[in-house]
Amino acid sequence: MKKINHSFIVTEFESREELESEDNLLLQKAIEAVDNAYAPYSAFYVGAAVLLENGKIVTGNNQENAAYPSGLCAERVALFFASSIYPDVAVKAIAITAKAENFTIKEPVAPCGACRQVMAETENRFDNKLRVIMMGEEGVIQVVEGMESLLPSAFHSEELKKEKR
Ligand code: THU
Repeated sequence: MKKINHSFIVTEFESREELESEDNLLLQKAIEAVDNAYAPYSAFYVGAAVLLENGKIVTGNNQENAAYPSGLCAERVALFFASSIYPDVAVKAIAITAKAENFTIKEPVAPCGACRQVMAETENRFDNKLRVIMMGEEGVIQVVEGMESLLPSAFHSEELKKEKR
């Protein structure tokens, strides 16, 4: 028996001014995307902005539905949108932020499990580490390099290619 310890590094910034200008711009696009979220049920408005290897930025926001599970998170809207326009271009980074109607978000917005899975696939697909920039309405900004940090031992396409025993 052995125990495996997964650890990861989160880089924390006190303000947007401390960020690299590329990350700050991406965050700005995510903030702008919040305004177009369709979230009448949760009143939790999320924006995501994706930076591609070709320099393009694609944004998305959460899209809810009266049949709740039919809605989709901002991160997946942005990543699927990017993939639908630029199917062969690697994704370098994603910035995520949100605004709530009934309270102030004081912690960085963390992607949900399903979005983490899609982010892991994006990274794996292009063999390119994904930089994740997370911010709330107030408080610190957190950055992680690569999805191994947010989803250790992710399920990848290689699992589907294993030979039958
Ligand atoms: N949501 C996102 O868009 N991204 C996240 O990372 C967390 C949750 C959305 C889904 C739903 O529309 C609302 O936020 C409340 O869960």
